[in-house]
Amino acid sequence: MMLPNLKDAKKRTKNKIQIIKDDYVIPNDVKNVGINKKYHIITYGCQMNVHDSENISAILEDMKYIRTDNMDEADIIVINTCAIRENAHNKVVGMLGRIKHLRETKKDIITIFCGCMAQEESIANMIKDKYKWVDIVFGTHNIHKLPIYLSDLYKSRKQEIEVYSIEGVVYEGIPVKRDSKYKAWVNIMYGCDKFCTYCIVPYTRGKQRSRLPEDILKEVEELKKEGYMEITLLGQNVNAYGKDLDINYTMTNLLEDVAKIGIPRVRFITSHPWDFTDDMIDVIAKYDNVMPYIHLPIQSGSSRILKLMGRRYTKEEYIELFNKIKNKIPNVAISTDIIVGFPGETEEDFKDTLEVVDKLKYDLAYTFIFSKRVGTPAYNMEDNVSMEEKKERLARLNELVNKYANINNMKYKDKVVEVLIEGASEKQGYLMGYTDTMKLVNVKCDESYLGKIVNVKITDVKTWSLDGELYNE
Ligand code: 5AD
Ligand code: SF4
Repeated sequence: MMLPNLKDAKKRTKNKIQIIKDDYVIPNDVKNVGINKKYHIITYGCQMNVHDSENISAILEDMKYIRTDNMDEADIIVINTCAIRENAHNKVVGMLGRIKHLRETKKDIITIFCGCMAQEESIANMIKDKYKWVDIVFGTHNIHKLPIYLSDLYKSRKQEIEVYSIEGVVYEGIPVKRDSKYKAWVNIMYGCDKFCTYCIVPYTRGKQRSRLPEDILKEVEELKKEGYMEITLLGQNVNAYGKDLDINYTMTNLLEDVAKIGIPRVRFITSHPWDFTDDMIDVIAKYDNVMPYIHLPIQSGSSRILKLMGRRYTKEEYIELFNKIKNKIPNVAISTDIIVGFPGETEEDFKDTLEVVDKLKYDLAYTFIFSKRVGTPAYNMEDNVSMEEKKERLARLNELVNKYANINNMKYKDKVVEVLIEGASEKQGYLMGYTDTMKLVNVKCDESYLGKIVNVKITDVKTWSLDGELYNE
């Protein structure tokens, strides 16, 4: 048993990051263990977690398990968790309750608990003490060891908890079963060293570590050969890509080399304003296949709060960057993340946030109430704003955010846009996809258009989506 430890998770050394290519093995006794058995996987949180679940799926399928979307018929249930805010906790506890209930009739279900929550000391201890029936717990650093844990479990039938609190290494050669045939996630880096004072990610995912350019480019080339239409380069802080490598190669170089491979659509998330360089903006503007959509979290519009958050930019610097991006990249859409109710946020600070949103008119903003995370510096900051006040601020902010989402969408009315048709829509007779600017569009068409980029004339506009029909000149 190895439980997580916050002190170790915090440490950062100057040690060179190891790249490990041959650590994924399936012990003989579990090579075919999944024959006639099904797995179900529940994923919470960000795209990084979604992509980790694609790895977990592939690992289970390597042992011959088959995926099922129906939890009731699963032999293995995997919960891949998120720790970014406290409310995730309740959802996961609820899910554990459901699984416990299922186990009453099906005793031999294997339950696996993994992801960012497993990296939290209090959660791992809670599973150890109160959920003894959960079979395997592993964290974000050791997904590839799942076959070994399963092998041990079959031998001993004892709860196995192994969570590393380390800076982390880069593993290559872990299999992936992608959810989509058209869109693919490509990790370019892991972890984060920014240590924003509210954020738990640097503790749950370790030190910033970039994959080698040749490994990323090889993966993208393979995706091109397989016919993928879109890739998204993934990292907690993609603009800092390469800074931890000894080579003179940056996110700008990587984005340009990836663009040249020629997949029709290239995206990247998430950008931290701190590392966003002018030459990066130039590359986005230069290549038609680098999509004009940027997620640029501001977090707060108050320079005082930004300082307390450890964001390393002021309101003015952020606005300058925002305008530079808008001026240099035609038709660009920009979205953001905003936290309200950070400890000590006054009405004045909050009004600064409203003012910035009113000025920048985001295409979309994801808004959150500050959530205290154990071990982060903000956990101990004095917080004298009531929850009621925070909720009220969130509602006021959302009203403004929605107004601009709607105004921005209205610009699309009667326009013809390119949409990559990717899947079922909630609307009958329609499929859904996204524009280059990341607008969700329901398109009246049949399944023969799946995986194709088509011209769509927008007929109807809503705050969160657009409706349209195929357009032929
Ligand atoms: N409380 C509320 N929101 C948070 N985020 C990160 N940490 C917290 C927290 N402790 C938000 C940030 C980040 C997004 C992914 O989640 O806005 O950009
Ligand atoms: Fe968290 Fe800040 Fe790192 Fe983003 S940049 S993952 S908000 S610490």
